[in-house]
Amino acid sequence: MNFIIAKDYEAMGRIAANIVAAQVLTKPDSVLGLATGSTPISLYRELVALYKRGEITFQNVKSFNLDEYVGLLPTDQNSYMYFMKYHLFDHINIKEGNYHCPKGTPKDLHEEAKNYERMIRDAGGIDLQVLGIGPNGHIGFNEPSMKFEKATHITDLDDKTIEANKRFFDKKEDVPKKAITMGIKTIMMAKSIVLLASGSSKAEIVKQAFLGEIMPNIPASVLQLHHNVTVIVDSEAGESIKMHV
Ligand code: GLP
Repeated sequence: MNFIIAKDYEAMGRIAANIVAAQVLTKPDSVLGLATGSTPISLYRELVALYKRGEITFQNVKSFNLDEYVGLLPTDQNSYMYFMKYHLFDHINIKEGNYHCPKGTPKDLHEEAKNYERMIRDAGGIDLQVLGIGPNGHIGFNEPSMKFEKATHITDLDDKTIEANKRFFDKKEDVPKKAITMGIKTIMMAKSIVLLASGSSKAEIVKQAFLGEIMPNIPASVLQLHHNVTVIVDSEAGESIKMHV
């Protein structure tokens, strides 16, 4: 694993944007795996700036987001599709039809999960996967568990996740209880991975996930087994690993 400790949140986003830009410049038809949450917003802001300066084009890029809340339509302000359009897709030249989020409202969610997995495979697999990390060590919505869930699947959200994500909703009861998410195998099949973490609330989980035991109870710990992972943290999230890297 490659660790980068950036001086602050904006610097973390800039470094990550350079990695994404290098991917897209060297392979213009790259398949990107994208993440939501507060953490990657500085990355998306920087990618939009690079695009607006004419330094990068998303003309032939495809993307697949990690996850979506079950029950939310793409037009819902709390859906991850809405988030992605708001922060990235509506400001760059990625083609409509080339970006994807798993759908949270189909009648048959298991069929949607299978279909999403198939679409990623048909696109040639993910070249670069962007990840955040939940306070409980989740990646996408792969929650702490007794086993690593492999493929895209439907999951119950952990109470810690509902607690952490309630800030985006009017009240805790409004946070969906289920989500559809890429699985651990889906994520591990990506050719390269960039994981971002920012703020002191992530310091302890970053240490446990990347310097501790590999176990499904801390889903992000499995990334220690991937051959091409870059972990970019700001100085606060990097506080408990800085002595070790
Ligand atoms: C959500 C997403 C994750 C994300 C996590 C962290 O639960 N499903 O993919 O990594 O939030 O969010 P934040 O970046 O806001 O801390």
